Amino acid sequence: MESYDVVFLGYPNWWYGVPMALLSFLEDHDLSGKQVYLFCSHGTGGLARSVDIITEALPGVEISDNIFDCYEEDAPASQEAIESWLTELGY
Ligand SMILES: Cc1cc2nc3c(=O)[nH]c(=O)nc-3n(C[C@H](O)[C@H](O)[C@H](O)COP(=O)(O)O)c2cc1C
Repeated sequence: MESYDVVFLGYPNWWYGVPMALLSFLEDHDLSGKQVYLFCSHGTGGLARSVDIITEALPGVEISDNIFDCYEEDAPASQEAIESWLTELGY
């Protein structure tokens, strides 16, 4: 992880939040000083509390508020939208 300055964190919305596996990953990896981008798939609940939960788990970490999210059934057809998002981010 030390060799990365930028981290893209992807997750599904589970129970209005994030799967515990994501929080375990964040506990095990020090992301301080890195730029973090979030992307999320979800049902009808949208991002819900997921961004707040991740922000609380990563105090002092720069999390972009330009977040990509999509409805779960739209995910397979989201390549163009994801490419536009990455272009917006400068990639
Ligand atoms: C245990 C579980 C809890 C979920 N809770 C929510 C929820 O609270 N709100 C929501 O919009 N979608 C919820 N979903 C739907 C998931 O977000 C959706 O299945 C997922 O984004 C699909 O991505 P995947 O194919 O990578 O799992 C839940 C799914 C599971 C399996």
